[in-house]
Amino acid sequence: MTLKMEDIARIVKRAGTQAADDTGNEPEPEMIQPINWPVTSTVGPGLEGAIACESKVGYVNGSKGWLVYRGYDVFELSANANYEEVCYLLLHGELPTEAQLYAFNKKLSNYRYVNGTLRVLMGFPVEKMNPMAALRLGTNLLRQEFSYMDIDIPNDEMSYDKIIAMDDDSFAMETAPCGDERATYEFRQHVSRPTRGAAWGDQLHDATGIEAAYHMIAGVPTLAAAISRVRQGHMPIEPDPHLSFSANFLYMLTGYRPSDFEERIMDICLTLHADHGMNASTFAAMVVASTLSDVYFSVGSGIAALNGPLHGGANQRVLQMLEEIREFGDVAQWLDDRLMAKEKIMGFGHRVYKAYDPRARVLAPLADVLSTNHEGGRSLLRVARQLEKEMIHRFGESKKIFPNVDFYSGIVYTCLGIPKDMFTAVFAVARVSGWTARVLEYLKNNRIFRPRAMYTGEFGKEYIPIAERQRRDTIQ
Ligand code: SDX
Repeated sequence: MTLKMEDIARIVKRAGTQAADDTGNEPEPEMIQPINWPVTSTVGPGLEGAIACESKVGYVNGSKGWLVYRGYDVFELSANANYEEVCYLLLHGELPTEAQLYAFNKKLSNYRYVNGTLRVLMGFPVEKMNPMAALRLGTNLLRQEFSYMDIDIPNDEMSYDKIIAMDDDSFAMETAPCGDERATYEFRQHVSRPTRGAAWGDQLHDATGIEAAYHMIAGVPTLAAAISRVRQGHMPIEPDPHLSFSANFLYMLTGYRPSDFEERIMDICLTLHADHGMNASTFAAMVVASTLSDVYFSVGSGIAALNGPLHGGANQRVLQMLEEIREFGDVAQWLDDRLMAKEKIMGFGHRVYKAYDPRARVLAPLADVLSTNHEGGRSLLRVARQLEKEMIHRFGESKKIFPNVDFYSGIVYTCLGIPKDMFTAVFAVARVSGWTARVLEYLKNNRIFRPRAMYTGEFGKEYIPIAERQRRDTIQ
């Protein structure tokens, strides 16, 4: 049975209804009031429960399994909006009008071209680097896209010799053939660059502003896709200005222009990963911004934190785990062995969600739909379903451990043709919107983050000269 595009919205809405049914008995959260600082909150290790700031960007409710962006339920947004609308919403607080979305898309489409940055990045052994290390390096280089040097170049004096992108047609990129066209390898003249004037000027002189956020949201996918292509031994694919954000990202990653169906599912994946409260990588980005560093450094620190297997790095470890179990053949036995070894099962558990992660509720049926024509994905999904059953049987009630966003995302990405080692980078591409939205919101009422550590060391120790220390050492 071939599914139609409207079936995707139906699948998402059904997941939302199921979520509401499953958590209907959980108490409604007390409505949130603006905070009268200082505030008392019970804080556990790892700042668990600590309230770091106020925000209107997004809300996560762990017992209800709610995820809300600027007042919109994530099921509502996934069923109806595209990722560009969601980015605009996170950054500006409202869904865009048609004219606003047109202007926003024009900017994003311009900022997709980061040829100058790519030229410098490809001077590094990217194919041998951890993809997230390469992406973080690319993000730092993106910061210099408009000027090698951090000096104030008055606009009228800004000459091309000071701009990293000066010869951005000196970077060979591929344009995958459409239909029976041959692939073209050519140095293309300036395809389209952000015109100078205010945008450019803001960009150069204020790397903390909204232009820098746009630049990152649109430029990081191009970097991630190029890193993936080079790791596979191919040339980077040049952005296609006629494709949507999601379609272009998939095209640059895989070399194929996706079907409407694949484009829509990628769009939903990016929406689901866009923002998630004060998670570790968002907090890292905000801490850096709170020192009045800038959004490029913030996003670079977000990428660094997201890389960890306890955070965004889990998605590719889930796939490795499912492949291992498929090989092993016995899910229950495999799980017993890992739990006996006190290992964490990737893709399960969450600091906040003590209910089923709403994002996993959407990703699981999307994996189901996509894997219909993908034998590898199908077999991984079978293993995933069994593992979920075993884990919930063991820990669902007792420890409130359920699948999280990383459990099914890798199966979806596999069916979309995305290489496993790029899964965390795909997560980062989506999360740049949440990181920058929260950084720009926090900077409006900035206070440098500076928590405490409880000192449990000694006091009043007397200095011993090193010769004395050495003697004491030999005596002991
Ligand atoms: C993301 O914060 C966010 O919002 C993050 C994120 C986002 O969108 O930004 O949602 C994205 O990071 C999702 C999580 C991806 N990580 C994983 O899938 C890695 C596996 N998960 C765990 O490491 C763990 O669940 C965490 C890190 C996600 C949460 O850890 P916590 O809150 O510190 O919980 P914990 O380690 O203190 O565990 C509490 C108990 C322990 O048992 P006891 O010692 O009490 O007996 O639950 C057990 C843990 O052993 N437990 C698990 C488990 N997760 C928790 N046991 C086995 N496997 C797991 N996955």
